[in-house]
Amino acid sequence: MSQDLHINGERLLKRLTDMAQIGATPKGGVCRVALSDEDKAGRDLFIQWCQGAGCTVTVDKIGNIFARRAGIKDDLPAIMAGSHLDSQPTGGKFDGVYGVLAALEAIETLNDEGSSTSHPVEIVSWTNEEGARFAPGLTGSGVYAGVFDLEHGLSRADKNGLTIGEELQRIGYAGEAPVGSRPVKAAFEIHIEQGPILEAEGITIGVVSGVQGMRWYDLIFEGQEAHAGTTPMERRRDPVASAIRVLQRIYELNEKHAPEGRATFGDFKVEPGSRNTVPGRLMVTLDYRHPDAAVLEAVDGEMRSIMERECRAAGIEGRVEEIWHMPPVSFAPECMSAVQRAADKLGYASMEMNSGAGHDAMYLAQIVPTGMIFVPCENGLSHNELENTQPEDLVAGGDVLLHTILELANP
Ligand code: HGY
Ligand code: MN
Ligand code: MN
Repeated sequence: MSQDLHINGERLLKRLTDMAQIGATPKGGVCRVALSDEDKAGRDLFIQWCQGAGCTVTVDKIGNIFARRAGIKDDLPAIMAGSHLDSQPTGGKFDGVYGVLAALEAIETLNDEGSSTSHPVEIVSWTNEEGARFAPGLTGSGVYAGVFDLEHGLSRADKNGLTIGEELQRIGYAGEAPVGSRPVKAAFEIHIEQGPILEAEGITIGVVSGVQGMRWYDLIFEGQEAHAGTTPMERRRDPVASAIRVLQRIYELNEKHAPEGRATFGDFKVEPGSRNTVPGRLMVTLDYRHPDAAVLEAVDGEMRSIMERECRAAGIEGRVEEIWHMPPVSFAPECMSAVQRAADKLGYASMEMNSGAGHDAMYLAQIVPTGMIFVPCENGLSHNELENTQPEDLVAGGDVLLHTILELANP
């Protein structure tokens, strides 16, 4: 396929704009949290577009959406491309969506050209990548890859006790198709980088070599509820006072692993949550990331001893609950070189890089040869309503994805 085959950039950009209307937030971002009404609306629109493109659409039991374009030899394993439609509560217009719609655009372009491929092409939108509502994230791809079993995935509950299974039923996406075992030759995910590297280097395409490891924890501090006015400070068992010391020690611990180590305390839950009652319980979430599995292990151990030491000294019950552990992942060299060849053929500057953000491709990489493509992200900002990527970069990435798919689909 010659390098002058390009996607219809206007159509891709228009669809990104149309999708961004669903769950649009006042600051220009989106809120389409997994399995919310907004996520349903986004799913419905995606399926409408896929059907318009002549794809056969299937939804599996964990709500993953597959849209298939038949190949000339349709019993060959498919070339898969996709990402996720769910967003953070104050998410951006491109995180995940770009990968789903760029994959659809590749199919639309092949339709426009009247080109068939030997292998079938399957585009996919994975359920609950973000993990913002139902922890941990990557549920759809994790169940698909066999890392989580289906029951575990369906039973993940949000803060109100609603489960993924119940919410899939409610929004009409509790599919019939069995999870996993779709014959796939190779899988690709294109995504905005969500970090500052490509923009700083002035480079258009990231050829992604892998993803750093990550661990999610709930740090739980239990003391004693007491009156805010009558209880002298020295008589209190205040979980907040202990947590402040523990979190500070964890920041200091992470400094030993700078600059790669990333520690984030993203959510706090105080009980009973009354301003004139000393809290009885505090839960703090910790998202810890590092490219080196040994460092993740070392920080796990040191973090637990900090917790034990500080809480014992303060007479507080301290507990660490691990929610998720995703070791570092490397992508298939053959997929990386296909992405590299596509970027070179199209004349886009590219560089090899590791991903700081987690992606569904991490789990796919455990079952099929998988690769990722990055495009730059303005100021490296993501998981923020101001997230932005230049139109020309979005289109360039779409071209690279198209040519990567074509190389694999027409060996
Ligand atoms: O958390 C992550 O890295 C991904 O963006 N959900
Ligand atoms: Mn994402
Ligand atoms: Mn994200």
